[in-house]
Amino acid sequence: MKYASIKGTGSYLPEKIVTNDELAAMVDTSDEWIRERTGIHQRHRSADGEGTGQMAEAAARHAMDAAGVSPEDIDLIVLGTTTPDRVYPATACQVQARLGIAGCAAFDVQAVCSGFIYALGVAEKFIRTESATRALVIGADVHSRLLDWADRSTCILFGDGAGAVVIEASDEPGIMSSHLHADGRYEPLLYVDGSVADGYDAQSAGPAVTRMQGNEVFKVAVRTLGRIVDETLAANGLKRQAVDWLIPHQANLRIIQATAKKLRLPMDRVVVTVDKHGNTSAASVPLALDTAVRDGRIKRGEILLLEAFGGGFTWGSALVRF
Ligand code: COA
Repeated sequence: MKYASIKGTGSYLPEKIVTNDELAAMVDTSDEWIRERTGIHQRHRSADGEGTGQMAEAAARHAMDAAGVSPEDIDLIVLGTTTPDRVYPATACQVQARLGIAGCAAFDVQAVCSGFIYALGVAEKFIRTESATRALVIGADVHSRLLDWADRSTCILFGDGAGAVVIEASDEPGIMSSHLHADGRYEPLLYVDGSVADGYDAQSAGPAVTRMQGNEVFKVAVRTLGRIVDETLAANGLKRQAVDWLIPHQANLRIIQATAKKLRLPMDRVVVTVDKHGNTSAASVPLALDTAVRDGRIKRGEILLLEAFGGGFTWGSALVRF
């Protein structure tokens, strides 16, 4: 059996930045409250008409450049997103067409903020079972399109963006293990209004906007991410000191700090982008990874713990020798 290893990373952020002060002019909040409770200073917002497919393509091209491969070398595309450009076809198929390739498997996985970790876990299995040799794994979301801009408890949290990696078959790990979980009973704590079952544009379905009981989500996230750290280390027979970098989902700085504390990792070994990006949903982990690879913090051979938690609830992790 082969392993899968990360050959290159890439990301894309829309040009427009939205500051906390701009949001404070729209809803009853303040820069101070948002910074203190979430760690977020700003987020990016995609331009009108700029969707997930376009952002995903840009991130994918950067990852392929970093890996030194061309679109024709790719034989699998897995895209984590909750904001596909259309209900169907899958945005992964659109990305495939934008890259000018055809024939390989291309599909979306929907695990909200855990979307990239799910996509990575799935693509890794294709490579390990020798069903693919070189995959594009992307996380991309325009969560700004799913927000009620009058709801101060959600509209301050999210940003738009995309991140991607190229993974390739190798004889050495690479991705040492991946762990995926879900518990659908938590739907009432975090969901998007509106329903295809009611008719996509039915008046009764209401606007497709995020509804969240933030403080309840917070508590479950901290508990669950603590457990997945233990599970990931145990699966690899490693102690927490083996981890060089934590690359967490970027939802709230306080959740990130709790996971770092669990690992007893100092914050200078944790990649934090939530201050600049907000919560970019499926894009958050690969965006953070690419940021720290490109600025030289993460070096080849280091051990990275990637983790995420999101609507579903879904959660997951991957332990990677970079
Ligand atoms: N500005 C000012 N006050 C706000 C506010 C805002 N943007 N949003 C909420 N508040 C208020 C609430 O109305 C509440 O007021 P009250 O005490 O008068 O009722 C008070 O702040 C406390 O609300 P609470 O929800 O308990 O705050 P919190 O400390 O839990 O922070 C979140 C709220 C949303 C920032 C936090 O719970 C969180 O980040 N949760 C996780 C969300 C998440 O990660 N979601 C995605 C999962 S991937």
